[in-house]
Amino acid sequence: MTHSATQFISPLTFQALSGNPVALDLLDADEENAMGHINLARWADIVLIAPATANSIAKFSLGFADDLLSTVFLATNCPLYIAPAMNQAMWNKSVTQENIQRLKSNGVHFIGPESGDQACGETGFGRMSEPNDIVIALLKNSKNSILQGINVLISAGPTREPLDPVRYITNRSSGKMGYALAEAALNVGANVTLISGPVNLSAPHKLQPINIETAEQMYHAVLSRVDKYDIYIGAAAVADYRPVVCSSQKIKKQADDSIIKLQKTRDILAAVASLPKNSCFVVGFAAETDNLEFYAKNKLTQKNLDMIAANWVGKEQGGFDKDENALQIYWNSGNKSLKMTNKTQLAEQLISLIAEKMNEKNTT
Ligand code: C5P
Repeated sequence: MTHSATQFISPLTFQALSGNPVALDLLDADEENAMGHINLARWADIVLIAPATANSIAKFSLGFADDLLSTVFLATNCPLYIAPAMNQAMWNKSVTQENIQRLKSNGVHFIGPESGDQACGETGFGRMSEPNDIVIALLKNSKNSILQGINVLISAGPTREPLDPVRYITNRSSGKMGYALAEAALNVGANVTLISGPVNLSAPHKLQPINIETAEQMYHAVLSRVDKYDIYIGAAAVADYRPVVCSSQKIKKQADDSIIKLQKTRDILAAVASLPKNSCFVVGFAAETDNLEFYAKNKLTQKNLDMIAANWVGKEQGGFDKDENALQIYWNSGNKSLKMTNKTQLAEQLISLIAEKMNEKNTT
């Protein structure tokens, strides 16, 4: 923190909230060599200045090193990021813009600012980007961006197959796994499109899902765009059957029993995997109550998939509508177990396995 920053928020507040020590001074008597700034500069993988004032930006641009922040900025060899925050008039001044251009031409990355209401009561450019956007920008540029620029299409959630205007057949899928996969893929640099059945989830930041209801709508949503994607992950629990007839009027109570005639829906995953000249890496899911390995491997070969992620479903086994899950992953030449953990971590592990196997496929 600069000393000006400590006038807004006390270092103790930052320390308590982050659980990390707060560095303030250039010469740190607690450090063995009193060279806290050099140690910090060597230690960091990334330096991000957020929020960065016009004054700090001017100092960085001219190579000033008269406090801890500007000294670390000058002394480090790691990637440098600045998220500016200042009054719109200060942002628009040519001297500020010249300082920014000078830093950019020296390889410093800028994140934001955004336009909007400012703390000073004015409106315009100079608002610091939302913290979430800053994190996404950092992750996209980091060496962990294993899917940088890769187009990923994900289907998630259940489908609803209508019987009449008020009733439908559906399943227990919550969409949590598909949404977690979308977030994990975004965080490693992918361009993600999410096609979603009806769920009670908020989409990952800045991702607008394409909402569908029926298996047939999902089929069209996927097949009409999948040729532009490098990876397709079918995480949706698509209905296997739909009512042959959907009554335009509410079906009335009549006989003591009633039969609903069903017909098979089209298999989206198999259709994607069998597209001519298909270069997409296709990943399916298999939720099973028994014979997990047998059924999963069967689907892998019969649907001609690159990978399948299988999990147990049932009363005690997790799966649908749970926050945790375990997965058994199969591909043609191997398999891997991902042990029981929350769906966020599970999605991160599955995305890195997909990236690894897709690269292997594309290099052989
Ligand atoms: O054959 P089964 O329905 O068990 O396969 C599950 C996998 O197939 C999931 O990845 C699911 O998204 C996909 N699927 C599909 N279209 C269907 C049925 C299942 O894409 N009509």
